[in-house]
Amino acid sequence: MSSPCTQSKGEEEKKSDSVQIDPGAGYKYGVLVSEDTPVNRNDAHSIQLKIDFSGEKENDKNHVSTLEKVSQNESYAELPVQSKSALKRKMKKDLWELRKKEKRIQEREKRKKRKLDPTHRLNTVTRKQLKNATMANSNCKVTIAIALSFDNYMDERSLAKCVKQISRCYSINRRATDPVQFHVTSLDGASLKEMSKNSGYENWDVNLHEKHFTEIFSKEKIVYLTSESDNVIENLKDDYVYIIGGLVDHNSHKGLCHKLAEEKGLSHGRLPISENIDMKTRKVLTIDHVFNVMVNICNGQSWKEALLEILPARKGAQEKPVDDNTITNGDRIADKFAVADEDAAADEDAEADEDAEADEDAVADEAASADEDAAADEDAVC
Ligand SMILES: C[S@@+](CC[C@H](N)C(=O)[O-])C[C@H]1O[C@@H](n2cnc3c(N)ncnc32)[C@H](O)[C@@H]1O
Repeated sequence: MSSPCTQSKGEEEKKSDSVQIDPGAGYKYGVLVSEDTPVNRNDAHSIQLKIDFSGEKENDKNHVSTLEKVSQNESYAELPVQSKSALKRKMKKDLWELRKKEKRIQEREKRKKRKLDPTHRLNTVTRKQLKNATMANSNCKVTIAIALSFDNYMDERSLAKCVKQISRCYSINRRATDPVQFHVTSLDGASLKEMSKNSGYENWDVNLHEKHFTEIFSKEKIVYLTSESDNVIENLKDDYVYIIGGLVDHNSHKGLCHKLAEEKGLSHGRLPISENIDMKTRKVLTIDHVFNVMVNICNGQSWKEALLEILPARKGAQEKPVDDNTITNGDRIADKFAVADEDAAADEDAEADEDAEADEDAVADEAASADEDAAADEDAVC
């Protein structure tokens, strides 16, 4: 059978049961967009899916080749098409799987190259340092817990991103001179299954719990972190437990963690972002960015230093003019725009995708390093 991309018009007409994939237009950041033509389920199973290669960057050849592999997959032509969205879902899933495999190969090659680089050893933490910098040896007694239990609010891909962010948190903590007391709670069901993909995670220097955090920590010591809180965190206290919601939702469940904290009668607080830096986008950070900022605070940085170091440039984080700690009209206007930004779901998704693209390499590297850490931990246990 010929590829669906190369079928002639005559063949197309004869094959009313087949799916036509036309590498024309409409692809952006891993999302396949189909034409808005409604499918007449009674007499036509033919769907035109359009994929745009034109927007791809010159250096993104692998990405394009992945797309070609997916779009030229002959099996699509044989699919008994139920609906246009079912086909789109299948193509997206296949595309995601193929990209994942390619990424893994690229990461492995990158790691191999890095090991051969003579400067590599200078930039990495030694095994000895890793063995010594444990939570038990740390001078920092601040507890940070990532609370899972949002499995029902995340699809497979978001849950995978969530667990990837947790593995990055682990990596950040292992590299800190004084690691925080790190816990992951409600690790069961789909979250546990996803976490189990990190081989050796059971050996990580992290307290893993199946239970909900309210069953582990005393209520009076809990501070739920949420960007919607009116309470600004100024200092991190040793005997307190700071909860980060284990949720990757591109803010589609805006205010969820704040609502949960209120419902459970828990204290809550937000990071002092507008008090320390100017930021032109919304102030909802990713799990690993929140964690990283807090680890850096525990290791002696000021809020300003930590926020400027951790927040990606695309967030537009800038130093605030000296002595400007009051909320200005400019801040209010910026906040207003940020809220409008939050409400624009489409913009948010695009931003989240950019986020993922921009951070993907860094996260992958860190996750890989986390595995190396686990190996170091294993050594320590032996
Ligand atoms: C991606 S956010 C989840 C956003 C979600 N829509 C919500 O309303 O909670 C993941 C977690 O990071 C923490 N977080 C994000 N930005 C924060 C901020 N500016 N201050 C305090 N915590 C923040 C919160 O604990 C939040 O649950």
